[in-house]
Amino acid sequence: MAGRGCVVTGGSRGIGAAVVRLALAQGADVVFGYHSGEKQARALADELRTAHPGRRCTPLYADVADTAAAERFAASALGHLDRFDVLVNNAGVTRDTLFARMGPQQWHEVIGTNLDSMYTVTKPLLMPLVKQRSGAIINIASSSGMHGTPGQTAYSAAKAGVIGFTKALSKEIGARGVTVNAVAPGLIETDMTAAIPEDKAEFLRSLIPGHAFGSPEDVAHLVCFLACDRARYITGQAIEISGGLVV
Ligand SMILES: NC(=O)c1ccc[n+]([C@@H]2O[C@H](COP(=O)([O-])OP(=O)(O)OC[C@H]3O[C@@H](n4cnc5c(N)ncnc54)[C@H](OP(=O)(O)O)[C@@H]3O)[C@@H](O)[C@H]2O)c1
Repeated sequence: MAGRGCVVTGGSRGIGAAVVRLALAQGADVVFGYHSGEKQARALADELRTAHPGRRCTPLYADVADTAAAERFAASALGHLDRFDVLVNNAGVTRDTLFARMGPQQWHEVIGTNLDSMYTVTKPLLMPLVKQRSGAIINIASSSGMHGTPGQTAYSAAKAGVIGFTKALSKEIGARGVTVNAVAPGLIETDMTAAIPEDKAEFLRSLIPGHAFGSPEDVAHLVCFLACDRARYITGQAIEISGGLVV
């Protein structure tokens, strides 16, 4: 990752923040997006600039569900980097409920943030990579998108869409030296899973051979591997990182 320029959406906390930390530690310059967590994002950037003097770490506002806001984010991100090599589409939300009870707002929030963002953020950042004839795009999907999770119909649909998008785009731009892969986490300890009631969390742990949720760092290592030259022959894949979760 040394000297590479990375853009990460949803980098203010959880998996995105772990990717930002690891990319900086591996020598990359990073622009990352936040939505509601400006204070957290600025604190993270301050901490990382102190820890890695000479590296760039820039937080920028981005609502990835909003085409115009995502375009502004992408243009500004490119302006903060000397070079651009890696896009990590990580921002996501859940609004869990049974489909029979789901309102249109829940559906559209989940599809907007998790799936529309594949268009809104990737579109303005694609041509620089294609023209450069090198780079990596890593989209964060989910085990839910591979297997379907009850209570998460919209989320499962969005994340399955992320995987389809990944596979199709990898075929469109593979000849231009740009790889496109999806990473599909199972259950990872972040704010997203902290909301799960303990009795349900205990049941979910019983479905994992090691009986433990993964850490954001586990996912970050896979993302940063896919972003580096050693992964240049891996594209169009959806790699599940779930501790062997049986669904
Ligand atoms: N945790 C898991 O078990 C798990 C499993 C499978 C997949 N995933 C996926 O992994 C990714 C990261 O999840 P996480 O667990 O780290 O979640 P998290 O801790 O809840 O963090 C979500 C991140 O997304 C950002 N975000 C939310 N809405 C946004 C919007 N409209 N525009 C821009 N950014 C927005 C948040 O920014 P602010 O804080 O600034 O609002 C935050 O940085 C998501 O795509 C999620 O679906 C997570």
